Amino acid sequence: MTLPAAYGYYQINGGMMGELMKWLAGEDVVVDLSGPRPHENVSTIERGKTIYEKHCSICHGDNGDGKSIRSVDMQLKPRDLSAGVYKFRSTPTGSLPTDEDIYTTISRGIRGTGMLPWFGLSSEDKWAVTYFIKTFSERFEEEDPDSQIVVPELPAINADLVGRGKQLYEHAKCWECHGWQGKGDGPKVEELKDDRGLPVKVRGFASEPFKGGSGIQDIYIIISTGLDGTPMASYGDTIPDKDMIALSAYVNAIAMQGPLKDGGMMELLPITSDEHAGMMMTYPAMPVGLMRYGMMRLYSRSDNMKGEIK
Ligand code: HEC
Ligand code: HEC
Repeated sequence: MTLPAAYGYYQINGGMMGELMKWLAGEDVVVDLSGPRPHENVSTIERGKTIYEKHCSICHGDNGDGKSIRSVDMQLKPRDLSAGVYKFRSTPTGSLPTDEDIYTTISRGIRGTGMLPWFGLSSEDKWAVTYFIKTFSERFEEEDPDSQIVVPELPAINADLVGRGKQLYEHAKCWECHGWQGKGDGPKVEELKDDRGLPVKVRGFASEPFKGGSGIQDIYIIISTGLDGTPMASYGDTIPDKDMIALSAYVNAIAMQGPLKDGGMMELLPITSDEHAGMMMTYPAMPVGLMRYGMMRLYSRSDNMKGEIK
């Protein structure tokens, strides 16, 4: 399929093309939680099951345990949804995620991995599948999520604050895993495993986009909650609010730049092999059309750094 043909296809299918283009160009997906939200009941769970079987089981497996034939296509394996341990939450470490957290992950995808944003699903579908995947773990019947972490209002972001964040980054030993410049090359990286014993890669903020959103608030949430099931611990209890903001501002400052635009044309981010695998399964017509276009516009991520910290 040529690009215009692919474009037509995605327009017809709910105009996802534009959304996907923006996402490929590095923009975070804006998640709207204010829309209509179906009740959680037998019929919505049943609807969620149908959606899961059609779109998700190919990777997460029939029982949600992350065991599927297609998982071999990906270096980072799909999550085991039956364990009830979620990486991406707004709740403290050890807690269940809220429904909104799960809905948000499904909506914005997880960059660098096979889990792409689901632009093709309506908000009702996304709520329904959220309700359904909770049935994989009994934890959701037995426990309620703890209260959400509230990000305090951000002060003015200036060189002093970022400088303070840099000291905290050293002091809290973030560099042991993330490296001094945030390239993901600290001394501890070789030995890291997740809770399934699978090797886990540290994020290099300076050279790859964030999984969980690139704003200072998004980073604050990750450092506070930790990514449960991985060596990325929660610092919510050890680092006070003010310091957490400074640290998040520092991580944001050394991070790769967000979307790049070139005279109205989007520059597309190079996609990883896991994203490529995910793309084939999530947006089947894309590889031939948009993706070829994307490939032609690749640029080196190393050209895209903000450079030295003031
Ligand atoms: C192409 C494979 C693929 C498909 C299809 C897929 N996922 Fe995923 N999913 C993944 C991978 C890989 C991860 C792990 C990412 C990580 O750990 O950083 C993941 C992670 C998740 C998470 C995050 C859990 C956490 O720890 O916070 C949720 C929720 C999720 N998927 C739900 C879904 C739903 C619902 C669908 C269907 C609409 C779906 N996935 C379809 C590959 C896939
Ligand atoms: C023991 C190793 C280790 C230490 C120490 C560590 N991290 Fe992490 N961090 C990780 C791993 C591994 C991941 C990625 C987990 C994943 O992708 O599932 C991660 C992910 C992150 C992310 C998420 C990036 C994204 O893609 O959204 C942020 C932000 C982060 N770490 C910040 C910090 C900060 C700040 C510190 C110090 C206070 C720190 N980390 C200390 C191992 C570590």
